[in-house]
Parts: sequence; structure tokens; C-alpha cells
Amino acid sequence: MEKLRIEYETDSALMARAKALSGAADDAAARLYEGGLDFTGWVNYAARFPEAELSRIEKTAAEIAGKCDALVVIGIGGSYLGARAALSFIDREDSKSPGVWPEAFFAGFNLSGTYHQRLLRELRNRELCVIVISKSGGTLEPSAAFAVFKGLLIEKYGREEACRRIYAVTDAKSGKLKAEADQNGYESFVLPSDIGGRYSVLSPVGLLPIAAAGIDIRQMLAGAAGAEAPELRAFAKEFACVRAALEQEKVVETFAYFDPSVEDFAGWAQQLFGESEGKDGRGALPVAVSFSRDLHSLGQFFQDGRQIFYETMLFVENPTLDITIQNEDAADVSGRSYSEFNRAVLEGVTRAHRAAQIPIIRVLIPQNSAYAFGQLVYVFELCCAVTGLLMGVNPFDQPGVEAYKKGMLEYLAAAK
Ligand code: PA5
Repeated sequence: MEKLRIEYETDSALMARAKALSGAADDAAARLYEGGLDFTGWVNYAARFPEAELSRIEKTAAEIAGKCDALVVIGIGGSYLGARAALSFIDREDSKSPGVWPEAFFAGFNLSGTYHQRLLRELRNRELCVIVISKSGGTLEPSAAFAVFKGLLIEKYGREEACRRIYAVTDAKSGKLKAEADQNGYESFVLPSDIGGRYSVLSPVGLLPIAAAGIDIRQMLAGAAGAEAPELRAFAKEFACVRAALEQEKVVETFAYFDPSVEDFAGWAQQLFGESEGKDGRGALPVAVSFSRDLHSLGQFFQDGRQIFYETMLFVENPTLDITIQNEDAADVSGRSYSEFNRAVLEGVTRAHRAAQIPIIRVLIPQNSAYAFGQLVYVFELCCAVTGLLMGVNPFDQPGVEAYKKGMLEYLAAAK
């Protein structure tokens, strides 16, 4: 199985500063692996995922596939970004029996009536199931979407059958969703209390919707468990040291992806790093950018503008799907493949941006497989936790997120 690789295109002084953090990174990693820190239940979780729970997820996924052709996945932040990233990233040729699994639609990550009305219109006449995911069970955005889609299920199938088409992932004990699931008998799964939302993609939060879309979650877990191999653990550590050194001099980290299949992974990484590191006045703002697209819109700024950023590039080395162009009317492109052109973009932009002294980290992803996705997620999670600890922030809380919720709820109470 091919492995993820990470390359550093930076100056030697930066790599020396990163190397100087090596001992502290070992200490941080030891704190993660040896326990004692709150919210580290995700560490090594893939390797010890309970078999009975895994089988129940797969059985439920097959049941969902038997009932519907459209699956509405409701959640926000860490409760949906990981599943979305996996579904966009993994090539269905790597999936089980493509074609028999439902199409997934996401809801509850905004409060747009336009978005949800369009979704309702699109799905009204499809065979539907709903997976609702909320650790707290009380977040407004998914609660509103759940009310809407539960209403649609009741209208289409009646209350009893609607309850058989609702699946919940939530806390083991508390919250409105937990109480409702118990009362109505929804098939339910637990997000362990020591795993935070943004570290939860390899828990039932991610695994249930991913399996229900026909992706081989055992392969995904195998990729992540493989990340426990010393080589990949070392990758995560070095990645963390370089990022921690860069955080001292740059205020933005761009996540540049070269393939739309990686766009949602970049969105997941934005949350992981932004919510974990952006606190106490620290952190580099993570910004996802699409290449080649944004080289034709922001390329001028990258090359020549204010040098406040470094780049983490996300490149798939051997995509399973490719096109070799054959058209004698187009001699400039004929006989060449998209993957060859895309590699040229990677190498060209690396060369140009290095000439402008921009520090570059290149994450080279072997292919669009479930196994590679598992590796990628786990290396990023380890890297993020170690970087946060090196920076002296708590990478597992998100106190700042509450501020907007408080303002929104105050506004709603006053406006009622
Ligand atoms: O990473 C996190 O903890 C957050 O993004 C949460 O996942 C998000 O706020 C949703 O919360 P909940 O699952 O409680 O609805």
C-alpha cells in the first residue's frame, strides 16, 4: 500500500528552527499517546475500534441503502465536515458495489431558507432516510434542519415509519437529541465523550454516513491504524514542528488543493487547524484555495503581494481517474494526460513561489482511496494536536465558538 509523503520546500534556517522543536514535540506526542490529556479519545481509536460497533455501523448502512436512494446527513462543524470530505475524496471505484448506495445530501450547516427549500424540492419525491448528528443535541442549525426533514418523513411515510428512517449519532447520556432518540426508538450511535467534533471523523459521526454511502470504512480505519506505524507518526511530528516554526512568522496558512475531490478535505482541515490553534491570539488563519482556479484570481497576490502566508499543498499523486487527451486538432494538448498537466501545475507553482521565498509544505497523497483518506486524516489530527501543544494552546477546546451562539440566541429571544 502506498504511503502518504510530506515534502518541505523551505529555506534551511526554517528547517533548523523546526528541528530545534523536536524534543518538545516528542514530549507533546508522549502526552497524547500516554493519556492524561482530556479529549484525546481519538488517539489510536481506529486500531481499537470495537468490532461489534463496527459491524452494527455496517449493518445499519446496508439497511439504509435498502430503504432509500437519497440520504440526508444533518450536522454542522465537526459533525458533518469529515463525512463530507470522505465522500468527495474517495473514488467510488474503491467503494463497495457502486450504484446500490444512496446519494448523500448535507443539511443543517447553515440557516438558509433558500438552501433548505431547494433541498426539500429536490428530495420530496425521492426515497429518503435521515442521519442526524449532534454531540450536544441542541445546536440550532442542525435542530432546525432536523425539524424540517423529520416533518417531510412523517408527511411521506407516517410517524412510525419515519422513526424507522431516522438514525442518530449523539452523546451517550445527555442532550435533546439523545432524549428524543430514546423516546422514538431511533437506531442510535454514540460519539464517545472524550472525542471532540473535529477529531471525530473516524468515530460513528463520520463512519455511519460514510458507510451508508458505500465506502469501505474498514479500509479507512486500516489507513489510520497504519498511521500508528513509526514512519507516519514521524511525518506528523515533523509536519507539526515545521508548522509551529512557521506560525511564529506567518499569519495565514493556505491549503491549496489541485483536485476538486480534495476541496472538502481542505474545508475539514480548515476547521481542524482553525478551531484547534486559533486561540489566545495565536495561530495562522487556515484558508482553502483551489489550483489552478485561484492561480488565475489570487495568483498575482500569492506571487507578489504581502507575504503574510505559507502554503500547505494537497496533491493526489496517482488519481485512479484520468484522461489522456486524443485530438489531432489540438496538438498542444493531444497525447498528454490531465494528471501530467496537474503535476506540471504543482511543480510550476512550487518553483515560482519558492522564487518568491514562500515556504511550502507539500502533502503528497498516494490516491483517492479510503485507505489514503484514513492515513491523511490521522496524520493531520496528530499534527494538529502536537502543533497546538507546541504553541502552548489547548488544541481540544473551542471557547470562542460560543460567542456568536450567545449573540444569536439573545437576538432571537428579544425578537420573539
Ligand atoms: O468541533 C466541534 O466540536 C464543533 O465543530 C461541533 O462539532 C459543532 O459545533 C457541532 O456541535 P454539535 O455536534 O454539538 O451539534
